[in-house]
Amino acid sequence: MSIPLRNTTSRYGLVSQAFHWLIVALILFQYTWAWRIDQAEGIRMRFELVTQHKTIGMVVLGLALLRLGWRLFNRPPALPDGMRGWERWAARAGHWGLYVLIFAVPLTGWLYSSAAGYADFWWGPLSFPSLVEPSEVLEDRLQLVHQSLAISLGLLALVHALAALRHHFINKDDVLRRMLPSWQSKD
Ligand code: HEM
Ligand code: HEM
Repeated sequence: MSIPLRNTTSRYGLVSQAFHWLIVALILFQYTWAWRIDQAEGIRMRFELVTQHKTIGMVVLGLALLRLGWRLFNRPPALPDGMRGWERWAARAGHWGLYVLIFAVPLTGWLYSSAAGYADFWWGPLSFPSLVEPSEVLEDRLQLVHQSLAISLGLLALVHALAALRHHFINKDDVLRRMLPSWQSKD
C-alpha cells in the first residue's frame, strides 16, 4: 500500500512528513554552521560560511511558508485517546510554538543582517532586500534576539523530540511511527 500524499485521520501524509524532516535536517545544519562560523579562522572563510548560513536559513523560511499553507488545508491526525488533558494542551502548544519559531528565527536573521548592512542578498534571479536601515544599536539587539530565538527553537525541539520518543518507547503508541514513511496504516 502506498503512502497517501495528504494526512489521513490516523497518520501524516508524505507531504507533511517531507516538510517536517527536511526542515529538521536544515535546522540541524544551521546549528552546525553557527558553530563553524564561530570556529572559522580568516575573514573569507567566515564570510563564506555566513553566506551559506543565510542561504540555508532562507530556504527554511520558504519551506516554512509552504508547510504552513499545506497545514492549513490538512488537519493533522488526532492525538491518541489515552493522552491526558494537559498532555494534549502541551502537544498543541509545542507544535504551534515550533511553527512560530521556524518563521521567527530566519526572519530575525534577515532583520539582523539588514541592520548590519549585509542584506540585499542574491540568489540568481532572486534578491532579498534590506528590511531596515543599517544601525549598530539595532544590529546588537537583533543579534541577541536571533541568538535567543535560535536557542529557544533548539530547546523546544529537544523537548518535542523527547516527547516523541516517550510516546514510542514508554506509551508504545503510534505517534512517532505515523510521522515516519515506513509505517503503513489501514487507511
Ligand atoms: C532556521 C534558520 C536559522 C537558524 C536555526 C539560525 C541559527 C543561528 C545561530 C544559532 C547563530 C549563532 C548565534 C550567536 O552565537 O551569535 C546564528 C548566527 C547568525 N545568523 Fe542565523 N539562523 C537561521 C537563519 C538565519 C537567516 C535566514 C539569516 C540571514 C538572512 C541568519 C543570519 C545570521 C547571522 C548574520 C549570524 C551571525 C554570524 C556571525 O557570527 O557572524 N540566520 N544563527
Ligand atoms: C527542529 C526540529 C523540529 C521541529 C521544528 C519540529 C516541528 C514539528 C511540528 C511543527 C509538528 C506539528 C506538525 C503539524 O501539526 O502539522 C511536529 C510533529 C511531530 N514531530 Fe517534530 N519537529 C522537530 C524535530 C523532531 C524530532 C527530532 C522528532 C523525533 C524524534 C520529531 C517527531 C515528531 C512527531 C512524531 C510529530 C507528530 C506528532 C503528532 O502526531 O501529534 N520532531 N514537529
